[in-house]
Amino acid sequence: STGLRGRSYLSELDFTADEIHQLLDLATALKAARRAGTEKPRLTGRHLALIFEKTSTRTRCAFEVAAADQGAATTYLGPGDTHVGSKESIADTARVLGRMFDGIEYRGSAQSIVTELADRSGVPVYNGLTDTSHPTQSLCDVFTMREHSPKPLREISYCYLGDARNNMGNSLLAMGALLGMDVRIAAPAGLWPDPAHVAACRAAAERSGARITLTEDAESAVRGTDFLYTDVWVSMGEPAETWHERIDLLLPYQVNAKTVAATGNPDVRFMHCLPALHDHRTRLGRDLLDTHGLDGLEVTDEVFSSPASIVFDQAENRLHTIKAVLVATLED
Ligand code: CP
Ligand code: NVA
Repeated sequence: STGLRGRSYLSELDFTADEIHQLLDLATALKAARRAGTEKPRLTGRHLALIFEKTSTRTRCAFEVAAADQGAATTYLGPGDTHVGSKESIADTARVLGRMFDGIEYRGSAQSIVTELADRSGVPVYNGLTDTSHPTQSLCDVFTMREHSPKPLREISYCYLGDARNNMGNSLLAMGALLGMDVRIAAPAGLWPDPAHVAACRAAAERSGARITLTEDAESAVRGTDFLYTDVWVSMGEPAETWHERIDLLLPYQVNAKTVAATGNPDVRFMHCLPALHDHRTRLGRDLLDTHGLDGLEVTDEVFSSPASIVFDQAENRLHTIKAVLVATLED
């Protein structure tokens, strides 16, 4: 047992490095058991509410499959499926769900909503993405780095390029700071994480020995890194008009063959939380690439589809890491 029973998973810095390592070790064991066909259900009879006020492919499926593997039942409440936001408050919703469910996953806008759900429901709450953090993703990401590197996490360096003011910029900075890693953020200063969040991460870095770099210079930021990471340039909930200004601002931070070469590391790996805009196979990708005459947005298809890309291993690992969070917090 991890001692995490009854805890919510809302934000990286609510945890100690040791607790995160316990979750990673549990995820490793759960992944191996699933592969070997020896997984034992540890959450039989539990009920989970999955509230998604924004859409999802990976997070929703990971919660549902993880719960099913472990013998728990899920109730999916999609965008617009509940009274929340129209005629029932978060506080009342939380008190109702807390009477029926053993845990609640929530994806939406304000971080304050997951905090309020946790405070009012009396059951563990899992942050399935807010505007300011995506901690089940950052847990998956360090798990994936651990699998793809021979080094201990404290010796691993990664560079996140692009929109660093979004949930992924915040979460990757926080997770690396907590675990003592070498974290670089390459972005225009206007898209760096909020200064209060940077200060909290710097304080965590003092304790862990993490190295934190924020810079506008992508070429120097990526030098010597083990992993390159990027995310969509306009996140869910941001106005569509933002695309045109972001493309101009962020093109110098696109992950392309030149970025990979600038690392100087022949073994560098490419990561992305997905979904990614790298080719013409989506309506948005087609419209934006054609309008701007580009080969990709945050990443070129050349890099996304290269052997260096581990994005689908990363996507699979959402399952194993979310399962670890559920087992650690809900098992008797
Ligand atoms: N990476 C991630 O959270 O994907 P979904 O939006 O599909 O859940
Ligand atoms: N930053 C992205 C992450 C999606 C998983 C968004 O919030 O849309």
